[in-house]
Amino acid sequence: MQFRRLGRTNLEVSEIGFGAWGIGKAWWGETDDRLSIRALLRAFERGVNFIDTAYAYGDGHSERLIAKAFQEYRERVTVATKIPLKTSGWPPQPGTRAKEAFPGAWIIDHTEKSLRNLGTDCIDVQQLHIWRDEWIQETEWHEAVKQLKREGKIRFFGVSLIDHAPETGLEAVRSGIFDTVQVIYNIFDQSPVKELFPLCQQVDVGVLARVPLDEGGLSGKLRPDMPLDPDTFPGYYFRGERLKDTCTRAEQLTAFLRDGVESLPKLALKFCLSHPAVSTVIPGMRRPEHVDENCAVPDAPTLTSQELQTLKTHAWPRNFYE
Ligand SMILES: NC(=O)c1ccc[n+]([C@@H]2O[C@H](COP(=O)([O-])OP(=O)(O)OC[C@H]3O[C@@H](n4cnc5c(N)ncnc54)[C@H](OP(=O)(O)O)[C@@H]3O)[C@@H](O)[C@H]2O)c1
Repeated sequence: MQFRRLGRTNLEVSEIGFGAWGIGKAWWGETDDRLSIRALLRAFERGVNFIDTAYAYGDGHSERLIAKAFQEYRERVTVATKIPLKTSGWPPQPGTRAKEAFPGAWIIDHTEKSLRNLGTDCIDVQQLHIWRDEWIQETEWHEAVKQLKREGKIRFFGVSLIDHAPETGLEAVRSGIFDTVQVIYNIFDQSPVKELFPLCQQVDVGVLARVPLDEGGLSGKLRPDMPLDPDTFPGYYFRGERLKDTCTRAEQLTAFLRDGVESLPKLALKFCLSHPAVSTVIPGMRRPEHVDENCAVPDAPTLTSQELQTLKTHAWPRNFYE
């Protein structure tokens, strides 16, 4: 494992972090908790010291599994969790006020819930699960964050941005309030490179690169004709022609596979780590064998500037949620 500085937090975090949405049973279908705990512990053995979770991942189920897995090692892992959005509809529409989406009392209450779920006195990185830049003008949410910091209930504060819209978090990053920012970054969506990443480097905000495997589109395991359960998130995300389109795009990437970078997930994760603004990349990994493959990536050969240049042409505009 290799480690990077998480921006101004000065925490040293593993280049491969653990994305803990899938283990929460929230919209990813049934999972086996014992297998999830084995995956978490395998990741720890392989040097992973950063976990990203959220209260919303199974109403605390993911947080509780993390607490259970790391009972003995709690102080050796950095856990980032998230405060859920209070209003309905995702993402919150323009005109939604911060005091509706994240009222101060809601922020405090959900932090208390996450503290209990995680079995800890202090959350390493608390995040807002979603953000709109106009909320920077409002103060109630920020007062709640300051209170939590004063009381020692959270150490650092971050934000997770709207899918495929890194430009909606530039004011947040500039504000100096947030220590970290979480954004979709993968071979298919390279949009943060334009403005967000240079800004994060300039103001020393840590970057959590999320959805590095395009929700499975870059995992190498999807097939155009495979049945996906429409009641699960992958079934929804890859509905209609989207599965076939994604498989066609992913197939084109096999030309990049070579010694040490012999699989699509490895190529995809190495791609994310090739950008110096990225502090950690957080694939969802519910299986120990995925953990093993993903944790080998930091030591895999570096992608050449020629390869990175060509990979730029594999980005394609997409927002499968609309
Ligand atoms: N709004 C937000 O803040 C937000 C939104 C989305 C995600 N996130 C965070 O980002 C994390 C990552 O995103 P994600 O989990 O949605 O998607 P992802 O990491 O892009 O993809 C997860 C998929 O990749 C598969 N996979 C992982 N490693 C693999 C390997 N080596 N070989 C083959 N398949 C592999 C997983 O398989 P299995 O299905 O077998 O596990 C799963 O299907 C989340 O867990 C969460 O922490 C945050």
